[in-house]
Amino acid sequence: MFSLSPDYLSVYVTSPRWLDRGLAFAHHHGLQCYQSDDWKTASTPYVLFYDEGAVSLAQTGKGVPGPITASFLQGKVRHRLLYGGGKGQLIAKAVGLKPGIQAHILDATAGLGRDAFVLASLNQSVMMLERSALVAELLECALLDAEQQRELQDIMARMTLQRVDAMSWLSEPGAAMYDVIYLDPMYPESTKSAQVKKEMRAFHHVVGQDADSARLLDLALEKARYRVVVKRPRKGACLDSRKPTLQLMGKSSRYDIYTLASMDGLKVRDS
Ligand SMILES: C[S@@+](CC[C@H](N)C(=O)[O-])C[C@H]1O[C@@H](n2cnc3c(N)ncnc32)[C@H](O)[C@@H]1O
Repeated sequence: MFSLSPDYLSVYVTSPRWLDRGLAFAHHHGLQCYQSDDWKTASTPYVLFYDEGAVSLAQTGKGVPGPITASFLQGKVRHRLLYGGGKGQLIAKAVGLKPGIQAHILDATAGLGRDAFVLASLNQSVMMLERSALVAELLECALLDAEQQRELQDIMARMTLQRVDAMSWLSEPGAAMYDVIYLDPMYPESTKSAQVKKEMRAFHHVVGQDADSARLLDLALEKARYRVVVKRPRKGACLDSRKPTLQLMGKSSRYDIYTLASMDGLKVRDS
């Protein structure tokens, strides 16, 4: 199992613009930091590399999956923004978005921020929580990059990240309530859907099993006003064996929706 230690991870900075950040991350976690792009020969099984284009986590050695990168400027996330189908997307339906609805959403398992970005691009404000220091670093660098893009600034203004465990965030005395709480904990490693995505297999090594997600659901149900939405593998068991109010099926995943109150209670603007 991965651990954030110098035996497992080293930091490579190939671009001067990330130098301070790379050094600070390495220093904070007691990791070696190299100003070099020669990360493929690293002696650690994982490297975090700060490149001009993006910040990525890569495995070293033969036959390993490609690097994991959080980015809102390229790849699937960008494609989805441009051609994704707006509020017709399954995640939008799961969260209960209708024209004019503006919800305060808590994405308690932010990961690489892809789902949060879709929701923010649909005009929702999203507070993201991520407890893995490494995943949060990837995500924060992606947010910093996206903030520099004029066309993404409105979306970025609706996304906020806290590097924290959602269990402690939601258990704080006086913790805020959210209209919708969205949970997408790691799928059990054995499911087919996790197998097909190489990138997610590497992610599994880094993040682990999220074995406490049933307790997170309990807490989310106390702290959401309208609904809690849980993303699961299409044929996976419900979290905590708890039966949802309704389910939406996608190609490889499913949304389990626990409704608490009608979303009509949210202010609806003309649009
Ligand atoms: C499957 S990923 C989420 C992917 C995300 N929905 C996306 O679109 O990129 C699950 C993430 O949730 C994080 N996580 C799980 N339980 C958490 C908790 N209690 N608090 C904060 N983060 C948590 C894990 O560290 C992992 O990065």
